[in-house]
Amino acid sequence: MALCKRRGFIYQASDLYGGLNGFWDYGPLGAQLKKNLRDRWWYDVVMDPCGGAPGPDGQPVDIVGLDTCIIQHPKVWVASGHTETFNDPMVDCRETKARYRFDHVSVCVPTGEADAAKPRFAFIAGTPSEARQRKKADKAFGAGLAIVPLAELPVESWNRVIAPDADQPGTLTEPRAFNLMFKTYIGATATEDDVAYLRPETAQGIFVQFKNVVDSTRVKIPFGIAQTGKAFRNEVTPRNFTFRSREFEQMEIEFFCHPDQARAWYEFWRTQRLAWWKSIGLAGDNLRVREQSRDELAHYAKDGAGTSDIEYRFPFTDPDFGEIEGVAHRADFDLATHQKHARTKLEYFDAERGELLANGGHKGERYLPHVIEPSAGLDRGVLAVLCEAFTEDASRPSPELLRLHPSLAPIKAAVFPLVNKEAMPQTSAKLHAELSRRFRGQGYIEHDARASIGKRYARMDEAGCPYCFTVDGQTAQDQTVTARDRDTGQQERIALDRVADYLGERLARS
Ligand code: GAP
Repeated sequence: MALCKRRGFIYQASDLYGGLNGFWDYGPLGAQLKKNLRDRWWYDVVMDPCGGAPGPDGQPVDIVGLDTCIIQHPKVWVASGHTETFNDPMVDCRETKARYRFDHVSVCVPTGEADAAKPRFAFIAGTPSEARQRKKADKAFGAGLAIVPLAELPVESWNRVIAPDADQPGTLTEPRAFNLMFKTYIGATATEDDVAYLRPETAQGIFVQFKNVVDSTRVKIPFGIAQTGKAFRNEVTPRNFTFRSREFEQMEIEFFCHPDQARAWYEFWRTQRLAWWKSIGLAGDNLRVREQSRDELAHYAKDGAGTSDIEYRFPFTDPDFGEIEGVAHRADFDLATHQKHARTKLEYFDAERGELLANGGHKGERYLPHVIEPSAGLDRGVLAVLCEAFTEDASRPSPELLRLHPSLAPIKAAVFPLVNKEAMPQTSAKLHAELSRRFRGQGYIEHDARASIGKRYARMDEAGCPYCFTVDGQTAQDQTVTARDRDTGQQERIALDRVADYLGERLARS
């Protein structure tokens, strides 16, 4: 977090006014890193889906893009179930005023009969309250101790429960539901009739426009609709840097297919999406895919073939993992519910299915497509990429560096004159201009003539810049420069007029 702030990747939102909990701003390097990740997703999903790999039907995967509004008709959220079910039950502590997710509170209870009157010690797993409360429980109960979720303790016994951060027993309130959608008003009058919500997921905009996309383009099932954009959730406990924010960006695909094909597409997307995260540098055992258990499934995925989470082992979840993308089989939950609430048929007529006719054609089949939804978090993706890249190495001029994947690195290359004399600054400025013209669409090309060369390399390592080119005394004699690789620290001499191609080849390879 310190490096992110120091080098302009991520700042606390409204920092000048003390910050705003759950909101983060991206600085110059962070904004470009985020854009690079978003662009890469868009390219690999919409422009060249799955790099040309065929789907389970043997055909190229077809995906079109979309950009829908943050504010949708309020009935969208009634139909989607968010008005009714998008909430977390919470408990409050009357003593400390802290608020906890009901399903996150665990309690140490005594197992022996004789200990029935003793207090119970509540904690939140993975927080300092865990060790503190367990220690107290060990002391109070001796050996006879069990851990149960608060939800399993009868409310009548809560008067003996000491909340995670409290001293007195009996301070926890009964659980209450908090809707996570941000409310706003449309128009000037701001009455309750004008209530609207900031979208809690980008997905619903896609479902609501499904019919228009089918009617206005040449897509045929199976096909996907993809969009990236902001989503807002009034998270009760935003935490872990940008991991759980109140304003964040999603990158979602809703892939529509025949119900009989849903399982095959679910498995296809699970594999594809895991491979995609690996391709941008999250390879290794910090990345995994995990099938959700039945009782974890979201309301829209209850009837489907399942949901898999692609998870990354963040430093703050270690040894556990945190979700960066969910791949869910939403069945026909969304199209069916919008069809019902909007009273508009959303069935798809598939001319290539149904009974075979004498002329070799098909009678056609009308059905509600099933949906496989790979839904990724852009901010969580950026955070995972930063965590993976962050390296501490005391032997280097920069003891902290970012080994960012070159395709994502916000600074693609830096050009330095070794010293500010002879023709070095002029040559390096010319090289900088040439590289900027060619690579500016992909990220920054820096020019730095200040401080010692070691310090300049260190600054670039810290910012995750993969390549540096230094113009020195030898350049004037043989028209070569030093090319330095961030990861190995190794240097080689290459021809001045080859630098752009050298960089282009390496960026294309990544
Ligand atoms: N349309 C399905 C959907 O929204 P989700 O699992 O709630 O599913 C998808 O969200 C992704 O959005 C998550 O995998 C995560 O990467 C990201 N996400 C969800 N809540 C977030 C939050 N509060 N802060 C940052 N990212 C979040």
